[in-house]
Amino acid sequence: MLNTSNKLAFLLAAPFKVLFQIWTLWSTLAYNTQSCEWMLVQNPPSIPTLLLAIVVCHFRKIKLVIDWHNFGYSILGLKLGQNHPLVFVAKVYERYLGRIAQYHFAVTNAMCDVLKSDLGIRGTILPLHDRPAPLFIPLSDADQIAFLTRHELTAAEVDNIIASKTRLVVSSTSWTADEDFSVLLDALRSYSESATTDSPHLPELLVIITGKGPLNQHYVEKIRDLESRQELEMVTIKTAWLSFEDYASLLGAADLGVSLHMSSSGVDLPMKVVDMFGAGLPVLGYDNFKAWPELVQENINGKGFSSPAQMSSIMKDIFDPTNETLDTLKEGAVRESKRRWSSEWDPVAGKLFGLTM
Ligand SMILES: *[C@@H]1O[C@H](CO)[C@@H](O)[C@H](O)[C@H]1NC(C)=O
Ligand SMILES: *[C@@H]1O[C@H](CO)[C@@H](O)[C@H](O)[C@H]1NC(C)=O
Repeated sequence: MLNTSNKLAFLLAAPFKVLFQIWTLWSTLAYNTQSCEWMLVQNPPSIPTLLLAIVVCHFRKIKLVIDWHNFGYSILGLKLGQNHPLVFVAKVYERYLGRIAQYHFAVTNAMCDVLKSDLGIRGTILPLHDRPAPLFIPLSDADQIAFLTRHELTAAEVDNIIASKTRLVVSSTSWTADEDFSVLLDALRSYSESATTDSPHLPELLVIITGKGPLNQHYVEKIRDLESRQELEMVTIKTAWLSFEDYASLLGAADLGVSLHMSSSGVDLPMKVVDMFGAGLPVLGYDNFKAWPELVQENINGKGFSSPAQMSSIMKDIFDPTNETLDTLKEGAVRESKRRWSSEWDPVAGKLFGLTM
């Protein structure tokens, strides 16, 4: 999706960015902070962070824990193509440095397996699933109405949303190549077509996509184009950038969250789905990767799809006023919202660091 001039600019800017990062990180870790027993470093970004963390830990006799959220090389592969020589170098870098560290957290069980089998990492590897920040909680009816009335994105539709005449769908993105929003647009086009022809009982949809990023303009133009061709009669799509507080409230007030995260490694998980569950919001997401079932329980707190056709068919089902699936999923998502950080962190990381019994 990124074209050649972007790719060239990326390759030219990268060395300067790395040199600057090396300097700031080195002075911070080696000089400006006191030594300690443990260092926890998130990966990715891997270059140059991982190398510096290993060198500093070696000289200062600090125990290093790598917190694996994904692989730097698989993300780089999205930008440059999986067979690019730099992707190969990045993989070697991550693999060998990873093997030096003694302790590892990984966001999924599937990632623990890949660390062992693909990267050949030994030592202690512990699964540590992400949990939502405290800001993401289910909202009371009164708080939902207050937010919908206050916010400019929803104010005009508040009565219809409360009466379920309009359903509020939310997705968030950094508008990068690892999320294909044309899947959502295709599905919405098909939904709108059904709702204007054979399924007139289907409600209108207000779809809010939040985030900033390189492909934003590209999709905004696509949306305008579909609108001008009257292919989104029953769907209104708005793109916006929201503060953290407003985003959390929006999730709490919405009917359905959408995730188009494609997972570059197949074993990482979209944080946005974790946040949606924190807010008690059921999720419809792209599920064609290995780690998905570790996060979403099919028909309990969400549903997965692997094509636009499947996505629109699920939306037509669950937004049908006679179908009770959405209520069931909502209950499941609210149950899921009770699983918070402390219940995940204390028994795994707290125990490793000797902080809990
Ligand atoms: C490639 O990217 C540049 C810079 O973002 C843009 O101006 C140009 O139109 C793009 N070309 C194509 C073919 O998409
Ligand atoms: C309700 O929606 C679900 C989910 O797509 C579907 O499996 C089920 O058949 C629907 N139920 C009815 C009664 O249409």
